[in-house]
Amino acid sequence: MVKVELVRGDITEAPVDAVVNAANSSLLGGGGVDGAIHRAGGPEILDACRDLRASRYGRGLPTGQAVATTAGRLPARWVIHTVGPVWSRTEDRSDLLVSCYRNSLAVADELGARTVAFPAISAGVYRWPIEDAARIAVETVKVTSTEVAEVTFVLFDDRAYEAFAATVS
Ligand code: APR
Repeated sequence: MVKVELVRGDITEAPVDAVVNAANSSLLGGGGVDGAIHRAGGPEILDACRDLRASRYGRGLPTGQAVATTAGRLPARWVIHTVGPVWSRTEDRSDLLVSCYRNSLAVADELGARTVAFPAISAGVYRWPIEDAARIAVETVKVTSTEVAEVTFVLFDDRAYEAFAATVS
């Protein structure tokens, strides 16, 4: 059973083996977590992402999937990039958000990562309601069999932290 922790802060500072990035399909950077990770991690991460675009992911990383790169200058060893679904009022995309957490843990297992930090995937620019984003995140991590010993959700604001705290309790 994986141990779940909550931290209020900036995921780029997380002292874990792997940090999960809320990326977009291009893998070429963006705002929010994506921007912060590339800014703090440095150009090595983008170089590795460009290599992925030139090989395995010529058409970009599909929503729900996950792939690892170096973490550059971050305290972590790896960044696991995953693409969350954009929230939709008319279409239930929960399965894709579940896949982000499940596939990120599978990639962590392939790496041999024992500690992993997740942001609240899709709960920013992609407008997923934070309460539901927290429910899906915590439930998926709890039911996914993985070698990862500890998952830390790093929440960037009080509202997100409260939503996750209400879910784990
Ligand atoms: N550390 C931890 N959490 C953060 C950080 C940070 N440094 N910066 C932002 N967050 C939080 C946001 O407050 C939100 O709760 O991460 C959550 C996810 O927000 P986004 O980063 O906007 O990610 P997402 O909603 O999945 O949208 C992805 O945004 O940045 C672009 O390139 C990215 O196109 C992609 C889209």
